[in-house]
Amino acid sequence: MSIQRPRGTKDVLPGESFAWQALELNIRNLCDKFQYKEIRMPTFEHTELFKRGVGDTTDVVQKEMYTFLDRDERSITLRPEGTAQAARLLLENGLYGGPLPAKFFYQISCYRYEKPQAGRLRQFNQFGVEVFGAQNPAADAEVISLAHTLFSNLGIRNLELNINSLGCPTCRKEYTAALKAYFTEHIDSLCDTCKGRLEKNPMRIIDCKSPECKKIAAGAPSILDYICDECRDHFEKVKGYLTGMGIPFTVDPTIVRGLDYYTKTVFEFVSNDIGAQGTVCGGGRYDGLIEQLGGKPLPGLGFAMGMERLFLLLESQGIQLPDEPPCDIYLAPLGENAVGKVMELTLDLRKKGLRVETDLMGRSLKAQMKYADKLGARYVAILGDDELQKGVVTLKNMADSSQEETAIADIFSVVGGR
Ligand code: HAM
Repeated sequence: MSIQRPRGTKDVLPGESFAWQALELNIRNLCDKFQYKEIRMPTFEHTELFKRGVGDTTDVVQKEMYTFLDRDERSITLRPEGTAQAARLLLENGLYGGPLPAKFFYQISCYRYEKPQAGRLRQFNQFGVEVFGAQNPAADAEVISLAHTLFSNLGIRNLELNINSLGCPTCRKEYTAALKAYFTEHIDSLCDTCKGRLEKNPMRIIDCKSPECKKIAAGAPSILDYICDECRDHFEKVKGYLTGMGIPFTVDPTIVRGLDYYTKTVFEFVSNDIGAQGTVCGGGRYDGLIEQLGGKPLPGLGFAMGMERLFLLLESQGIQLPDEPPCDIYLAPLGENAVGKVMELTLDLRKKGLRVETDLMGRSLKAQMKYADKLGARYVAILGDDELQKGVVTLKNMADSSQEETAIADIFSVVGGR
């Protein structure tokens, strides 16, 4: 039996890759407007980074990481996300010493051992942004507005923005105690993982995927009843800025996010159009992360969106990304003598910037014409012995089937002059 790709992975086929490029370009241009700079990071890191960064009571770290020992017995993990990595990049390269805020974006593949379903893969792609050094609520609003602008540029509709505040370590302490008391009353019904979380990190129970835990979590105390004055003020300002920028949102106190580093503002963009995995984008503040990774205190925030979910959303809403431009001209050699000249001409026109295809199969002229038609070539140039002698080609315009003898030197201006 032939080997197939692992479960939860995807191939991007030649007909699909242009849409990816178009989306990536869109993102790149948008980040440029918002003045976010691209970072590129390794696919794997020391496991410790994610344990410390993402948190070892999270589903991601407890159940989903692709972790292995390398040949020197070091524990290595394929990145499940980009935030801890971006923080590591900032620290390791001393970028906290440069102009702040440091504003980054990335387009990365991520790896999580989850149960594959529509919109949930084991290898998936994220577009993410991270901002380091900005304490001000204006930064929260800017980051959210970036995601919002991308969605609106793409013409996406019906996306709900839900926001919440998870407070700071001070107010979280009181909230954690309240959660602990609440979940202790229901301990017998919690899943085994959550029983373990009760002592260490009861907020994770709110995020558990088990239906029984979900039911219990629905009645848990709300963080918004516990946040301190400073966190409340921050949250109010973020909401005010969003309103001012015309970005609608709903406050949803049940959003806790699945990763441990979050403080204060958290948010998700959710769609009902793509099934159960409707969270297209998630993010928030993580003011303690850099310190947790060994740096001096430095606030941070960002988001990541799942590119495959974004594609599902575009598809479900019938939004077309631009199609791949057609081949400009197919050069058909007629007979062995013409092949060399056609090769020269092909390279010349390609260097001038045309999309050019030619025969690599030794096909008959009839078969070449059929192939050029399949490619959707705008023109076909036929070059045989006669044409060679005269320094011309027979140039056929495929749109109206008209054909004309054209000097080789004029091909570029005829075909390129669209
Ligand atoms: P996350 O919520 O774990 O956050 O993932 C962000 C997005 O990645 C999700 O909203 C979803 O669209 C996509 N995603 C996650 N898991 C999968 C999967 N198995 N298959 C397909 N898509 C998936 C983070 O990763 C944080 N690092 C976001 C962040 C950046 N927070 C602050 N800065």
